Amino acid sequence: MTPLLCSAPAKINLALEVQGILPDGYHELDTIFCWLELEDLLDVRPSAKTELIIQDEIGQGAEVVPDERNLVMKALRSLEDLVGRELPTRLRLIKRIPAGGGLGGGSADAAAALLGVVRAHDLPLQPADLLKLAARLGADVAFGLEGGTARGRGRGELLSPLPSPPDLPVLLLIPHFPLSTPEVYDCWDRLPEEVRRPGRGSAERVVAALSKGRAQDLLRSTGNDLEAAAEALRPELSELRRRMLQAGCAQARLCGSGSTLFGLLEPSCNPEPVATRLKDLGHVLCTRFRGSPR
Ligand code: C5P
Repeated sequence: MTPLLCSAPAKINLALEVQGILPDGYHELDTIFCWLELEDLLDVRPSAKTELIIQDEIGQGAEVVPDERNLVMKALRSLEDLVGRELPTRLRLIKRIPAGGGLGGGSADAAAALLGVVRAHDLPLQPADLLKLAARLGADVAFGLEGGTARGRGRGELLSPLPSPPDLPVLLLIPHFPLSTPEVYDCWDRLPEEVRRPGRGSAERVVAALSKGRAQDLLRSTGNDLEAAAEALRPELSELRRRMLQAGCAQARLCGSGSTLFGLLEPSCNPEPVATRLKDLGHVLCTRFRGSPR
């Protein structure tokens, strides 16, 4: 039984196409995930009793709770249910990814918890067992198990690996308001057909750009169908995207269901002055892709 420090990277969706509504109300996606260098860390060690400690490095306050509502605890409980016994574990979550912004921080933490608890307690589980648990914990958790760069279909859990993107600076603009994922999807359901799919074809374009490995192709390929819904709920998002382009980003898109926006810069562009121009619009972070899997 070994203590472990597990990485839980944030993700962005280089493409996100909503293809329809599934019978259970979830949405069928064709999306391209890519990990970022920005990460949470989860320290996992077997212990006499289970506890979750949050080390909040970015002042998120009540957003991240150290109790059974946290996806880290849900991941531990799902493993206990599967193996039919308690797995007393001390979990210390070092939180750096802003919560509720579409960067997949909670899902990343859950994936790290699944991998960390399995290894710390030497559980004889197969990758397929973990994938099943992950898909039940949330649509993005399966991606967090392998990470890197991958195409996600179904609810986002049917994954196939892709080549890493070219090394570009990535800026994150976290606006002062959050967006709720279910509300953004509900809003998409009510959009008129003609404005529903602005990102149509982006998944195929991004796959082609990644296989050629050309930054210029990638910069022209990204798309996100949820932008139309998020901008209907928060019209200021389209203005923020415009300001990111004006400030020097070659491309600006919504992260997942928002409200965070990511900007991609030309490979040779220094991100610092661009970040400075954006700092009055929200919290700005500079990061890069982390395109290789675990
Ligand atoms: O699975 P996750 O907890 O990330 O999803 C949060 C909510 O987002 C779901 O309850 C659902 O309303 C919506 N969602 C969806 N289709 C997806 C992913 C999420 O409708 N593929």
